[in-house]
Amino acid sequence: MKRQNQSSVVEFILLGFSNYPELQGQLFGVFLVIYLATFTGNVIIIVVISLEQSLHVPLYLFLLNLSVLEVSYTAAIVPEMLVTLSTERATITFAGCYSQMYCILFFGGTECFLLGAMAYDRYSAICHPLNYPVIMNKSVFKKLLIFSWVSWIVVATVQTTWVFSFPFCGPNEIDHISCETPAVLELACADTYFFEIYAFTGTILIVLVPFLLILLSYVRILFAILKIPSNTGRQKAFSTCASHLTSVTLFYGTAIMTYLQPKSGYSPDTKKLMSLSYSLLTPLLNPLIYSLRNSEMKRAFLKLWRRKVNLHTF
Ligand SMILES: *[C@@H]1O[C@H](CO)[C@@H](O)[C@H](O)[C@H]1NC(C)=O
Repeated sequence: MKRQNQSSVVEFILLGFSNYPELQGQLFGVFLVIYLATFTGNVIIIVVISLEQSLHVPLYLFLLNLSVLEVSYTAAIVPEMLVTLSTERATITFAGCYSQMYCILFFGGTECFLLGAMAYDRYSAICHPLNYPVIMNKSVFKKLLIFSWVSWIVVATVQTTWVFSFPFCGPNEIDHISCETPAVLELACADTYFFEIYAFTGTILIVLVPFLLILLSYVRILFAILKIPSNTGRQKAFSTCASHLTSVTLFYGTAIMTYLQPKSGYSPDTKKLMSLSYSLLTPLLNPLIYSLRNSEMKRAFLKLWRRKVNLHTF
């Protein structure tokens, strides 16, 4: 409790959208519906893939991990956001803010790497179908998963501890929807120059590079798709590709704009909108475009559904 002696701030206040008091009710309703839809969609995916043995191949096991991530990631952000929207002055303790920042970095970052691993998986399957079983063998698959999860434990620990080692001497109002790094950094009363340099290089290395690799693999996939002889097959593959690209671009684009320069000149409203894009919108879109459009997932879902109905009528 040395920190409390050093600095006068012991808790933060999350402002959320308190500058739009007339919208708070509507926003609460919309975010609640989005959260419940995201939760339900991802839990369905987790249950279907876990129960259906035929889906235990890299593509679906990646999707299973992605859904576990989305559930955890949104659980770290949205309930707190709903509290902020429904109370006059939503306070959050140092420890609460620390854990929220940690979870956002850990789950959000792991998602960055996982989406990269999934793009690599699709690229190998579509562009090198004959070598695919060798390229994506069990050991490579496991290594990709472990790397995605473990590297972000280190990043999240370093970054969160660094931000919270700065003194906070007031004001304690976070003008944002969650305890994200840039918003909390605004309140630090110390020179944050080295942290900003770290954030800049870190974001390029661990967010921008995976994003560029994903774009590159989709370009290669698009070229492979153009060679498909049948028109309908080409169209379907193309629309799948386009929807993946949209979600990936929304997620990485807004995250890069936010984290590349934590003290950038965007207005608080712009920062909140960008944050909503990767905290709320892409977790809602991902189950829809990666799994629920997928015909094998649909078949597995119907199969489980029928089995359940049979059990009930029995
Ligand atoms: C990710 O997927 C692998 C699949 O083999 C599984 O063993 C692991 O438990 C999953 N991780 C999470 C957190 O769901």
